[in-house]
Amino acid sequence: MRTKIVAGNWKMNLDVDASKQLAMDISVAIQNLETNNTRIIIAPTATNLYPVFHQPSMDSRVEIAAQNMHQAKNGAFTGEISAEMIHSVGITNVILGHSERRTYFNETDAALAEKVSTALQNNLDAIFCFGEVLEERQSNNHFKVVESQLQNALFHLNDSDWRNIVLAYEPVWAIGTGETASPEQAQEMHAFIRTVIAKKFGNTIAQNVSILYGGSVKPSNAKEIFSQPDVDGGLIGGAALNTADFVALIVAIQ
Ligand code: 13P
Repeated sequence: MRTKIVAGNWKMNLDVDASKQLAMDISVAIQNLETNNTRIIIAPTATNLYPVFHQPSMDSRVEIAAQNMHQAKNGAFTGEISAEMIHSVGITNVILGHSERRTYFNETDAALAEKVSTALQNNLDAIFCFGEVLEERQSNNHFKVVESQLQNALFHLNDSDWRNIVLAYEPVWAIGTGETASPEQAQEMHAFIRTVIAKKFGNTIAQNVSILYGGSVKPSNAKEIFSQPDVDGGLIGGAALNTADFVALIVAIQ
């Protein structure tokens, strides 16, 4: 059975106190919630990973993810953080390839292929993001684009690597816009993603990998999106910054 995941990407929001508070509020709010087979992940900004993770009395079901890392082991890369550094503070997940990284920081598929490998070598699970921009969907190239993003960044992996990979399909036109892919559009793409993975790595791996949808997921649309057979959860931006909304998404996926 695939793991369901509700992951909050906090992006460049919240200082250390606000991050700790939000993490604690989520912890308290889920205390009496059954969350069988659901992973809950929050991704604070780099400076807040350690203080959030090491708060006493955090609910142990709340996992932490970094939002990015450099592909090199270490070296002269001013301003960057390495996989080893992330792992050394106790964090075991990293988001890679978010469209904001690709757009504003020129992250290429080739760099992402290296980042994924470096993350796995350092015992970090990679939450790998990808998705088409509006023009690509309008010109009916979205399947081709997504297939090539997967090929270029993930096809060098070994079968066993897939135990530590989560996929996050985030159509760029739906991120922070209030515009969501319809449940049918999400399902159609997620099913396609599984066929792409199955062709290269076989059906078992394709059936076992969790594929999250991201882009304007909120309590009012979550249930319909999460109930699609190939949607295993969400990567959430705006709604992850509000305890009640984020917890409502965790409830919606049960
Ligand atoms: P929104 O939920 O704010 O659209 O952001 C989605 C996202 O980018 C998550 O990584």
